[in-house]
Amino acid sequence: MTTIAASPEPTIETKALPNATITVEGKSYEFPVIVGTEGEKAIDTRNLRSTTGYIAFDEGFGNTGSCLSDITYIDGEKGILRHRGVPIEQLAERSTFLCTAYLIIYGKLPNRPQLEAFRDKIRNATALHEDFRHHFQGFPPSSHPMAILSSMSNALGCYYPEMTSNDRERDLEYFDDAAALLISKVRNIAAMSHRMHAGLPYNYPRKDLRYVENFLHMMFSEPYDDYEPTPEVTQALDLFLLLHADHEQNCSTSTVRMVASGGANLFASVSAGICALWGPLHGGANAAVIRMLQDIHDSGDDGSKFIEAAKSGKARLMGFGHRVYKNYDPRAKILGKAAERLLNSLGKTDALLDIARRLESAALSDEYFVERKLYPNVDFYSGIILKAIGIPVSMFTVMFAIGRMPGWIANWHEVALNNKRIYRPRQIFTGPVKTDYVPIDQRC
Ligand code: ACO
Repeated sequence: MTTIAASPEPTIETKALPNATITVEGKSYEFPVIVGTEGEKAIDTRNLRSTTGYIAFDEGFGNTGSCLSDITYIDGEKGILRHRGVPIEQLAERSTFLCTAYLIIYGKLPNRPQLEAFRDKIRNATALHEDFRHHFQGFPPSSHPMAILSSMSNALGCYYPEMTSNDRERDLEYFDDAAALLISKVRNIAAMSHRMHAGLPYNYPRKDLRYVENFLHMMFSEPYDDYEPTPEVTQALDLFLLLHADHEQNCSTSTVRMVASGGANLFASVSAGICALWGPLHGGANAAVIRMLQDIHDSGDDGSKFIEAAKSGKARLMGFGHRVYKNYDPRAKILGKAAERLLNSLGKTDALLDIARRLESAALSDEYFVERKLYPNVDFYSGIILKAIGIPVSMFTVMFAIGRMPGWIANWHEVALNNKRIYRPRQIFTGPVKTDYVPIDQRC
């Protein structure tokens, strides 16, 4: 394996900006201003409580920078997304999922030998320990693949005690192996959970296949019939994974960093990230979008009734809106076109894509959505691609998790290398004031 240099510690740019002044109870306090490389400004309030006695209240963390990070830059107002400086549009056009994974994890685009070495490492880490079958058999057949994926990602670490010591230096020593192993095996676990759910025999991975083809083989080959994807299917799935590879301090990545800050190993941290991703307001939205489009279709609505329901708060237009983007999510633009390309190549049509297009144009010209700056996000079109490939809806968020693995790994690494303090927010307590204990027979 070509040695990979860890990216340097993120540093605070100290541009000569005047301090910010905060006045509390008539007294003024100065706080330094810090500036990111793209000019993002922040008031450094790390000493706020110790100097003023106050904490900052920011439920949902919409105004809180929880870390310094070198990995991904988003300008939500302009609809910009870059990994290590490289625009997502260029990556989507010219890169592959594994090449982008390398960029995100190691800080720069790999040269040919580095990419080959990275691919080999992932290919050689493909096989799952045979005992994994027993773990799978322990789950009821009705288990959701996301529950299986998060449990199994943590269980995976049990087979590699040297990589999961929770001794930071030791875990870092094995980082390259652990990263390749997770990127490789998350695919097998995902495919195995699908096969188990469908009552189908498991497929062993094949070393002659590339990353995405191997996943499709494990998902869809039968003992009597090898699945051979068209190049368009492979390309669309690779693009799907690439576009999900990282996205700054979202709910699941912040969870990974939170768990990592306590010193937990990479496997435990990403397993927590998978749980965080599951919810319908986060990665679960891609499945919710398809269910929503299907319901609209089945009800005979052209989308207009649904838009009205969303405006009145009776429904939520899934795949729309974003905490950070107040403009088009650039990934949604790319995926919308890719969905169309894939369907054309397969000679298929999908009524759900037509409904999605109608919803999009209705929402983009409706005052409610315009005022609130609600645009399609990454989940709006991604499900159409997955559905066209034949991936069941219950697996959609699992697909997101496979794609997001490089981002979680890179963020874990950043915390493990640089973070000296455990993440530990404060709260404003709103419960009862001191209340004496009442013995059980005196309680009403
Ligand atoms: N449909 C209808 N109205 C919406 C939507 C939507 N999808 N999203 C936001 N709004 C409205 C809210 O009701 C609120 O209106 P109000 O000001 O009248 O109360 C306003 O827009 C602001 O919305 P918030 O919920 O405060 O925005 P927040 O930043 O907290 O939430 C979120 C962002 C969770 C993504 C939200 O837009 C949403 O629920 N979208 C649908 C689910 C979704 O697609 N999630 C995937 C996000 S991308 C990802 O995680 C991979």
